[in-house]
Amino acid sequence: MFEVRNLSKVYNSGVINKASLKAVDDVTFSVDRGETVGIIGESGCGKTSLAKMVLKLLKISSGSMYLNGEDVSSIRGEKLKSYRRKVQIIFQNPESSINPHMKIYDCIAEVLRINKLASRKSEDEKALIYQLISMVGLQQEHLNRYSWELSGGQIQRVALSRVLALKPELLVADEPTSMLDVSVQAQVLTLLRSMQREQGFAMLFISHDLDVVRVMCDRVIVMFMGKIVESGTVDQVFSHPCHNYTKSLLEEYECLR
Ligand SMILES: Nc1ncnc2c1ncn2[C@@H]1O[C@H](COP(=O)(O)OP(=O)(O)OP(=O)(O)O)[C@@H](O)[C@H]1O
Ligand SMILES: [Mg+2]
Repeated sequence: MFEVRNLSKVYNSGVINKASLKAVDDVTFSVDRGETVGIIGESGCGKTSLAKMVLKLLKISSGSMYLNGEDVSSIRGEKLKSYRRKVQIIFQNPESSINPHMKIYDCIAEVLRINKLASRKSEDEKALIYQLISMVGLQQEHLNRYSWELSGGQIQRVALSRVLALKPELLVADEPTSMLDVSVQAQVLTLLRSMQREQGFAMLFISHDLDVVRVMCDRVIVMFMGKIVESGTVDQVFSHPCHNYTKSLLEEYECLR
């Protein structure tokens, strides 16, 4: 369904002493409808850079990406607009995606209006918003609040409702629950799973938390210094890691348990 081939990202920095850093190095993988692929690896190994390229927030240095067989590496205009609707992200820090000056109702309505899913201030719009918030386990009273009047878990639910409104084909979740406390984490993850079952989107799930990856993902990719060093089903990788880096990652994880 979604595929990247030989994707790389080189950051160039420095004005006088030019330096370049290969943050993502020749990465190839695919993810199918209804499937969740986990991306793990130490801080700075290139996970977010990869996610930003998938979302087309960051220009790719080389390689290609395909959505439903179509090459989306260098799409523009209307095609890019439609791609942006099909591929959505949930951020680590949900506050960053919600405007603090807007009531929650308007935050959700904004997405519906921009994407012409319902006409402004119509009964349809209202009904859709009520439906969306009940899907993510919020109540109507929350709609009248601002984001700073909600808890972290509630804000992540609002962010999720905005994404679900668009019925994405691919959802990228970059550490979606690392800012939440453990009990809320579990609720948001369960919600994400049940939404995926309902809507059938493919998911790329980036996380530091191997326990969470184990529960959420079907397959997992291990990155090390920009490269994929290992990939396979969660069971394969967690019970029989091949690469030394994966072994040390898992050993560290066993120590913490
Ligand atoms: N805009 C940028 N310009 C230059 N270098 C960057 C830029 N963004 C990221 N980098 C560098 O690229 C490398 C990969 O960063 P990235 O954010 O993709 O890592 P990550 O795996 O998501 O890390 P974390 O787990 O800490 O979120 C890092 O060395 C980072 O410093
Ligand atoms: Mg990151």
